[in-house]
Amino acid sequence: MSGAMEGDGAYNRHATLQAGGGALALNALKEAAASVVLEKAGQPIVIAEYGASQGRNSQLPMRVAIAGLRAREGPDRPILVYHEDLPINDFGSLFKVLETDPDRYVRDDPHVYPCAIGRSFYESVLPPAYVHLGWSAYAAMWLSHVPTTVAGHIYVPCMKGAASAAFHQQGIKDWQKFLSLRAAELRPGGRLVVVLPGADDDGRTGFEPLMNDANDVLTQMADEGALTADEQAHMVLSTFGRPSRELLTPFATDGRFCELSIEHCERLPLPDAVWGEFLQDGDGERMVSRYAAFYRSTFLPSLFLALAQPGDAKRKGKLSDRFEHLLKERLETRKEPIHSQVQTLVFARDRAP
Ligand SMILES: C[S@@+](CC[C@H](N)C(=O)[O-])C[C@H]1O[C@@H](n2cnc3c(N)ncnc32)[C@H](O)[C@@H]1O
Repeated sequence: MSGAMEGDGAYNRHATLQAGGGALALNALKEAAASVVLEKAGQPIVIAEYGASQGRNSQLPMRVAIAGLRAREGPDRPILVYHEDLPINDFGSLFKVLETDPDRYVRDDPHVYPCAIGRSFYESVLPPAYVHLGWSAYAAMWLSHVPTTVAGHIYVPCMKGAASAAFHQQGIKDWQKFLSLRAAELRPGGRLVVVLPGADDDGRTGFEPLMNDANDVLTQMADEGALTADEQAHMVLSTFGRPSRELLTPFATDGRFCELSIEHCERLPLPDAVWGEFLQDGDGERMVSRYAAFYRSTFLPSLFLALAQPGDAKRKGKLSDRFEHLLKERLETRKEPIHSQVQTLVFARDRAP
């Protein structure tokens, strides 16, 4: 299934960029937790995280959300936290984080109950009018499926013509579907915070140089015979970076969509932490290793779905190592930061009449 991260906790170890993006949305989450409508005490408060992955980057946002709710409701009201992701997600690593991570949000709060859901967020994942507070970071840019088989480049902003248009159309449909499903799951007066990689009006995200390197590495691997031409031709990332105006389009008519209204919409530059540390310590080898590991853990599993036998773990492991090595070589010749952005949106579900 397209979109899943590298397992065995690899994503947890290498998703610094996504952690930094999520951190820029914590104030919005804090405000959402302060303004969500809470009915009379007694029933649990429900938080849902959509696209949780392996849980490391969930701990701080969940802590912030829980602290905001505890400040309003006291220490005893039960809080349910649902971590949702694709069925093939590495949920084992998520549970390990909840058990052992020193920063785990369940620590010191006996009335918080974490749960996990293995189902696509392009389906209903929780009952109607059930969720008080939703959080989704760096997940809803993954589309429900790859809308075209051969795209000419792995990354949408670098594609041309029909392939680019097919992703665009799918991006519009999937965004409306994601929002309408989440709207149905939110309680009246609930809030949904969505964090995405930001895109300029022309759809460019700042990841293009890295994606061009990755695309070139895959061509190199096909030239060396490590990948077949057919495998390489079908490698594509089903992500779509939506410009702000496209994210707001469903609300264009009267400011509302499926009983949701927009409370907050902000796009900020994301400082590149890996580059920042390189400027401090001058360790170029460490810097390229971190970029390559980030790329491998976040994107390679989706690209390698195009392997003739994607279940052949031995070949996949060898190819992943080769890819990472070649990507590092390229990055060494092009030392520069990733100029990405973070898009944060907060939606409020209408209150009960
Ligand atoms: C880049 S990770 C983000 C993880 C975490 N939220 C963070 O901020 O680091 C994207 C996650 O979205 C999940 N994802 C992609 N498509 C999905 C879908 N259709 N339904 C549920 N989860 C999905 C992936 O499996 C992956 O775990």
